[in-house]
Amino acid sequence: MESYKAQTGIHPVSFRPNWDELPISQIMDNMQPYRPPGKISDYQKEFDTVATERSNTKICRIAAQRTSCKELNRIIRAFYPFDYISFILLPKGVGYPTHTDKRGCNINFVRGPAAPITVGGVSYQLDRFFMNPKIPHSVEKHAVGRFTMMITWDNDSYEDIHERLVRNGWL
Ligand SMILES: [Fe+2]
Repeated sequence: MESYKAQTGIHPVSFRPNWDELPISQIMDNMQPYRPPGKISDYQKEFDTVATERSNTKICRIAAQRTSCKELNRIIRAFYPFDYISFILLPKGVGYPTHTDKRGCNINFVRGPAAPITVGGVSYQLDRFFMNPKIPHSVEKHAVGRFTMMITWDNDSYEDIHERLVRNGWL
């Protein structure tokens, strides 16, 4: 059974992005091969284990500030303050092996159809979730690319943001 106690490290999010109102083609045009924020020497700061296996991943990062897109602004307002939004494309037929990440915590919105995510050995079929990336997790390879919008808190803990999201009615 799926359960969403704090210690499971994953929790569904009630907020629903309107994908049709996001500038997807503009975002796709601005995607680059995955690199963590900052200098290349900081490469291992965000990801502990599988950074090199992610070479096919593409990313577009957007700062947590007002944009020209109304829907993006609605998303930013809902979760602000946070560090940035990333749009991430994992190609079809590629999964993420079990790994942990060094960022504090994140919310992922996956544009369907989404392959399940396994966190702490339990598989979850979720397209909107808040998670603790310090708990080992993996994503199975899928027949279609996995397009994710990720709200990232670099340094705030899962527990602190969990509390704030509950208070704001998103968990
Ligand atoms: Fe991860």
